Amino acid sequence: MKIIAIANQKGGCGKTTTAINLAACLGKKQRRVLLLDLDPQGHSSLGFGVFNDDARDLYDVFTGESSLENIILPNVFNGVDVVPATMTLAAAEHLPLRPDQRERQLEKHLAPLRLRYDYIVIDCPPTMGLLTLNALMTADLVLIPIEMSLFGLHGIDQMYETIALLRERYAREIPIRVLPTLVDSRTRLCRHFLHQIGERFADDVVPVMVQFTVRLKEAVHKGIPIIEYDPGSVAATQYNRLAEELMACLHNDAFAAVEDEEQARLTAMTQAFDQARARLIENGPRKKVILRFYDLAGKQVQLAGNFNDWKPDKDVVTRVVDGVLEKTILLVPGVYQYRLIVDGAWQEDPSNPEQVSNLAGGRNSILHVESQHETVGV
Ligand SMILES: Nc1ncnc2c1ncn2[C@@H]1O[C@H](COP(=O)(O)OP(=O)(O)OP(=O)(O)O)[C@@H](O)[C@H]1O
Ligand SMILES: [Mg+2]
Repeated sequence: MKIIAIANQKGGCGKTTTAINLAACLGKKQRRVLLLDLDPQGHSSLGFGVFNDDARDLYDVFTGESSLENIILPNVFNGVDVVPATMTLAAAEHLPLRPDQRERQLEKHLAPLRLRYDYIVIDCPPTMGLLTLNALMTADLVLIPIEMSLFGLHGIDQMYETIALLRERYAREIPIRVLPTLVDSRTRLCRHFLHQIGERFADDVVPVMVQFTVRLKEAVHKGIPIIEYDPGSVAATQYNRLAEELMACLHNDAFAAVEDEEQARLTAMTQAFDQARARLIENGPRKKVILRFYDLAGKQVQLAGNFNDWKPDKDVVTRVVDGVLEKTILLVPGVYQYRLIVDGAWQEDPSNPEQVSNLAGGRNSILHVESQHETVGV
């Protein structure tokens, strides 16, 4: 059993959306999953369509009135069980517990479930209180969603400090992964934040990001995960990839399976590309896509991808606007792979964390062309 705690004191950065959709993707991959709602707001229970203010929650477990096993709601979605939360859970912050036991309650209660689940996903509240500390103390991996906004980085240093403190005090290694969320990569500001996050958190950043899309909001409203609500959407693909990345992170022996899946995805992408090209031949609408590169000034940069037969700068218009290098291409909506050739050397796009392994052992960057991109007459 592996435990993934999704935590960030910053409110509204996508913790709950990530918890629901990650749990659902792991469940769909035939893993036995428990989603544990640790937020008294109860949003991840709601997001799975569970509404019951009178439900028992972890407060009853911490006070000894119930066992954790008794409050589990079985098979709420495709192999995912849920431990719901209600407002009562807020009172757990003030329970009179022994000081040496306060942060280890959850660990103690989860221990008997070790053989029952492959993954436990914990949705933490937006505070660094007792509940979040309990989650950090029991987690095998902490996933920090970061919203791509001016305030997105607020509080992250404190998260890192707290985890370092726990590491020191309890000699526990807790790997951290940072997930960019609410990404709108069409805006210059967002690309700037992505670049900053890459520089600041380096290897901790997962090579997946979650784009801003109303489909996710709609799915939450309907109380169903995105892989059920709109399985072909970009968000469904991104959460699936996140699930694969974390599985690979947590189990070395899962690498082979993940590589198989990655290979299957590559094949699926190639097929999608062929279909997109066929649509193009039938005069489908092409969209104008502009890629901007802020940190490659003064270098010779070419763009090659499966949209131009991997021929550097074929069908690409290059301009420099206000010192920023721009590459413009016309594409039908779909998912593409590309690489840059910087001063003659092939590499992935450093400002795009979304990547996939290629058959040559390197990484290709992923480009999503959505129908809302500007349409250009062909
Ligand atoms: N990728 C996305 N695209 C569009 N909307 C999103 C996305 N991710 C989250 N949202 C929306 O943003 C809002 C906040 O998301 P969410 O509840 O997941 O954040 P949170 O970190 O759990 O918030 P809190 O700190 O209050 O628990 C919700 O309305 C959710 O539907
Ligand atoms: Mg939440």
